[in-house]
Amino acid sequence: MNNQRLTIPKLKKMKQDRIPVTMITAYDFPSAKLAEEAGVDIILVGDSLGNVVLGYETTVPVTLDDMVYHSRAVARGAQHTFIVTDLPFLTYHGSIDQTLRNAARIMQEGHANAVKMEGGADICLAVDACVKAGVPVLGHIGLTPQSVNRIGGYRIQGKDEQDAKRLLEDAKALERAGAFAVVLELVTEQVAEYISRELTIPTIGIGAGRGCDGQVLVFHDVVRYASPYYEKRFVKTYADVGGIIRQGISQYVKEVKDRSFPAEDHVFAAADTVAESLYGGGGNHANEETANSGERGAHTAK
Ligand code: KIV
Repeated sequence: MNNQRLTIPKLKKMKQDRIPVTMITAYDFPSAKLAEEAGVDIILVGDSLGNVVLGYETTVPVTLDDMVYHSRAVARGAQHTFIVTDLPFLTYHGSIDQTLRNAARIMQEGHANAVKMEGGADICLAVDACVKAGVPVLGHIGLTPQSVNRIGGYRIQGKDEQDAKRLLEDAKALERAGAFAVVLELVTEQVAEYISRELTIPTIGIGAGRGCDGQVLVFHDVVRYASPYYEKRFVKTYADVGGIIRQGISQYVKEVKDRSFPAEDHVFAAADTVAESLYGGGGNHANEETANSGERGAHTAK
């Protein structure tokens, strides 16, 4: 674990020194704590939480309140890591005043160090206003999931020359507007590499190949934690946490059913006289006694 939180100047230096940037998503206290302990450079509180945590089909239903709530939990779990939190669907497309108020909530209530916004030249006024107001902005181009209804699916970007040119222009516009880095999602490797060379700010790729300055993946995909997306080509899973959890819960269910849990080691004993007086008194209150025997809550009793 690195106790020195990343800064934007350090991030730029990493690009100059060709040191890859590592970013992973996290959405709550435990995932943030684990990501920090594992030594990631940046934690992204992505609106992908809509898919992998809240069970929505897209990120469109995710609200600003959702992002603030999850960002605050992540900040509690990762106090030494640079945290970027997504501004969700349609929260930076209205007036500049409204955009700044929304970004302020992410920073002040969600305790993030920066915000992320999807879009290129079309959102540069919002990016510029945030940066000038002291809010660091991570851009996000290529496949932009908040626009899935307009795009009509999750398609690879940058397959032809025209698309490659558009992506490069968008990346440059974000750099000019003051973004400190740009996520490239589902972009062909050649185009992502070219953009990475053309920019002075780092690119962080997901499904964008080996030429990016850094990589980002979704927590639930990396550790196979009940994610429906881990089988995607661009994802690599490094652990099967979901399998271990499922196995553990199945064993718990089995042991309760066959009465092997709780066992002797898991119960609290009263003085012998208590049992004698209860049973001596005639009525069988064994179940009541078991339920009330702990002085502390079941979760904290040792
Ligand atoms: O929301 C998210 O997790 C993201 C990453 C996939 C980059 O935007």
